[in-house]
Amino acid sequence: MNKRALITGLTGQDGSYLAELLLDRGYEVFGLMRRSSSETTERLDDIADRLTIIGGDLLDQTSLMDAIEQANPDEVYNLAAQSFVAESWKEPVYTGDVDALGVTRLLEAIKRVHPAARFYQASSSEMFGKVHETPQRETTPFHPRSPYGAAKVYGYYITMNYRESYGMHASNGILFNHESPRRGIEFVTRKITDGVARIKAELATELALGNLDAQRDWGFAGDYVQAMWLMLQQEEPGDYVVATGETHSVREFCEVAFARAGLDYEKHVVIDPRFVRPAEVELLLGDPSKAKAELGWEPKMGFRELVESMVDADLARYGVAR
Ligand code: NAP
Ligand code: GDD
Repeated sequence: MNKRALITGLTGQDGSYLAELLLDRGYEVFGLMRRSSSETTERLDDIADRLTIIGGDLLDQTSLMDAIEQANPDEVYNLAAQSFVAESWKEPVYTGDVDALGVTRLLEAIKRVHPAARFYQASSSEMFGKVHETPQRETTPFHPRSPYGAAKVYGYYITMNYRESYGMHASNGILFNHESPRRGIEFVTRKITDGVARIKAELATELALGNLDAQRDWGFAGDYVQAMWLMLQQEEPGDYVVATGETHSVREFCEVAFARAGLDYEKHVVIDPRFVRPAEVELLLGDPSKAKAELGWEPKMGFRELVESMVDADLARYGVAR
């Protein structure tokens, strides 16, 4: 019989890649979707007719109980979140409600309705924040630098707590930044590649950014959803860092992205203090040794290929050539 999976955050970047992976593996895929007054399913256009959508919200306990009952899942992937770090200073309480307490609501629904379901929590390298060691690994202490990071630390520990308290198969993926042409436009990578395409299309001349010196370990989202799935195929649950083991600055990302379109970033990028954060995560660099050894996971796409594929996709979207 086909396995059944429930994905929260189905309409997001990772939700769309994970849904494709699970469909390819013969799963019956259910997705939790909150009500919206506008269309949010554009990332799912190619697979929409193979998915079962269930209305619900991480803020609403009853809807989560109903979703678990309807999907009766073997595996639950909790990808839903207020995922934009900068926004979390503007909406700290809301971010905590969704990203922290939302995890408890979902775990509680699973525990009460279908405790045998395996659970994946989308934990984040933002938990390392002001890093205590480099590279960061599973044993590195957390020091979150934003309401988002703090909420994700709670989500991490409540997942571990349901595992230890109730014997649930609950795992944390501590994922470092991962990107794709489907990345939300507010995140720096997509903001840059969209900006390059807009400049190339002569719709803009400048791109306003914040801190160009921040460094991130950027991988490809399509590779990272593989690691999520692998975690839930293990006999024992666990917590895993998922990263490339390479770090690059926002400035380097700009250099490669603008060069792909024959442009010099120094002529177009301007610094706007509005995009500088109250507290910054200066450097993230992950050590994915455990995921490689225990899950057999490897990232396939490197930094340059990732940046260039995102630029190419945005150029195509605006109908301009390199
Ligand atoms: P994303 O594109 O921003 O998607 C977030 C998803 O969460 C969307 O489907 C959104 O639905 C849904 N959502 C938000 N609030 C909700 C609520 N109250 N109830 C139900 N659904 C809600 O994020 P992503 O990049 O795919 O990331 C997936 C997860 O991984 C997130 O938890 C994120 O924090 C975490 N993470 C991401 C990265 C990364 O680099 N991408 C790294 C580490 C961890 P709408 O379409 O309705 O807005
Ligand atoms: N968004 C944005 N916009 N970031 C900028 C800008 C700008 O104009 N200019 C510089 N940056 C810097 C930010 O200050 C940060 O240091 C870095 O670029 C990356 O910012 P984001 O792309 O917004 O991602 P993030 O690292 O804060 O968070 C992402 O990765 C986390 C994992 O580490 C999100 O996907 C989180 O949900 C995820 O948990």
